[in-house]
Amino acid sequence: MLDKDMADARSGGGTVPNDLEALWLPFTPNRQFKREPRMISRAKDMHFYTPEGRAILDATAGLWCSNAGHCREPIVRAIQEQAAELDFSPSFQFAHPKGFEVASRIAQLAPGDLDHVFFANSGSEAADTALKIALAYQRSRGEGTRVRLIGRERGYHGTGFGGISVGGMPNNRKFFGPLLAGADHLPHTHLPENRFTRGEPEHGAHLADRLEDLVALHDASTIAAVIVEPFAGSTGVLPPPKGYLKRLREICDKHGIVLIFDEVITGFGRMGTAFGAEYWGVQPDIMTFAKGVTSGTVPMGGVVVRKHIYEAFQTGADHAIDLFHGYTYTAHPLACAAALASLDVYRDEGLFERAGQMAKVLEDAIHTLKGHPLVADIRNCGLAAAVDIVPQPGSPGLRGFESMKRGYFDHDIMLRITADTIAVSPPFIVTEDQIGQSVEAIRAILTSLDGG
Ligand SMILES: Cc1ncc(COP(=O)(O)O)c(C=O)c1O
Repeated sequence: MLDKDMADARSGGGTVPNDLEALWLPFTPNRQFKREPRMISRAKDMHFYTPEGRAILDATAGLWCSNAGHCREPIVRAIQEQAAELDFSPSFQFAHPKGFEVASRIAQLAPGDLDHVFFANSGSEAADTALKIALAYQRSRGEGTRVRLIGRERGYHGTGFGGISVGGMPNNRKFFGPLLAGADHLPHTHLPENRFTRGEPEHGAHLADRLEDLVALHDASTIAAVIVEPFAGSTGVLPPPKGYLKRLREICDKHGIVLIFDEVITGFGRMGTAFGAEYWGVQPDIMTFAKGVTSGTVPMGGVVVRKHIYEAFQTGADHAIDLFHGYTYTAHPLACAAALASLDVYRDEGLFERAGQMAKVLEDAIHTLKGHPLVADIRNCGLAAAVDIVPQPGSPGLRGFESMKRGYFDHDIMLRITADTIAVSPPFIVTEDQIGQSVEAIRAILTSLDGG
C-alpha cells in the first residue's frame, strides 16, 4: 500500500487498497474477485456502502446475521464502552459478569428446560461444540458405545471437521479426506412435488422415518446424536415438511438419541419467534446459535443444552473440570456487550414479531417470480426465501454467480447465492418497499441473463 493510501485507510477515508493479493477470501473465486472486486466499506441500517459511496440494499442481513440492521447506535455504543472497560478476561477458571447475564437472557428466550449456555465464537464452533457435548453426555450416562453422529444431506453446520462430517454439501466435504468416522446422513427434504410451495410443504414428513432405517442398520446403541437445521438455510432455504421435525423428535426419544437443532440461522428471530424450536413447537436437547445473537457485530456462537445434559456433567470431584472443551474467546466481553445490546434492541423494537410480519410480505412478493422462464423453484420460510434458477447447460453455477455480481454492480443489491440458488434474508427492520425492491431487482437480473 502507498503511504498516502495507508494514511487514508487509517483515517477511515474509504480508500480501496492497491494490492488485493495477500488476502485469501473464503468461499470466493479469488482470481475473479481480484479482477472485479466487490468492496464494502461502510454500513448503516438496511444498506452497505461501496468505497465510492454507492448504497447497496442488504437483502441478506450480511450473511444471515445482521438481524437488527447495521451500525445500530445502541449496539455500537455498548461495544465501544465495553472495549474501554474490560477488553478481555480469561474464560477458563475465571469469568466476568456479562457472560452470566447473556447466558441468562438466552436461557429465558430458549424453550422448555433448555437452560444452560456454553459459548463459542462462530456457528462452526457451535456445531462442533454441540456434537462434542452430545458424545460426552452419552458417555457420562454410561452409553459410551453411542459414537455415531447423524446429519442430513444438504445440511450445513459450518466448516469444522465435525460440522462437515455431518454436513451434506458435497463441495464442503470432498476435498478434506475421510472426515469423522461413523457419521451418516438422513435424506434431504427437497421433493420435486413440493416445488413452488409457500412455506412448509405438505409432503415429506415420512423422510424423518429414514432415521428408523439408520437405527435398524447401525443399532441405536451406536448412535449418539442427530443434528439438523430446522430449515436448511445455506443450501437454499429448504423448509421442513409439515410434521417432519415432530416425527424426528419422537424417533430420537424412542431410541435415546440426542436431538440437536442447529439454529445458527433460525435463532434470534428469523421465524418470528426467538428460536425455530418455539416456532415449530419441537424441543431439541441441544440447540446451537451464532450470527443474530450479536446481530453480526462481534463474533459469538454457542449452544444451549437441556438441564439433564448439564447435570450429567456435574458429578466429579469438586476441583475436577467437568467438560474439557472451550475457547480462549469463549464469552468474550465485547461479544457479551454486543449480545446484551442486540437482545435489548430486538426486545425494545419488537423485531422478532416484525420479522414474523415481514415474512408474509416476503412470501407474497417472492412468489410473483413464478412463471419467469429461468425460475425452477421458489421456497420461503420465516423471513427467508430462495429462488432456484434453471442452470445454464454445461455451466452449472454460472447464472447464480452472474446474478450475485449483477446485483452488486448493476442493481445496488446484495444477494446471497449457493450455486444457482439466490437467497434473500433481510434484516428485520426491512420495509415492505425494500422487500418489493429486492424482488424486482431479482426479476430484472434474471431477465438480463442469457436465456432470461
Ligand atoms: C446452520 C448453520 N450452522 C453453522 C454455520 C456456520 O457458522 P459460521 O460461519 O459462523 O462458522 C452456519 C453459517 O451459515 C449455518 O447456517
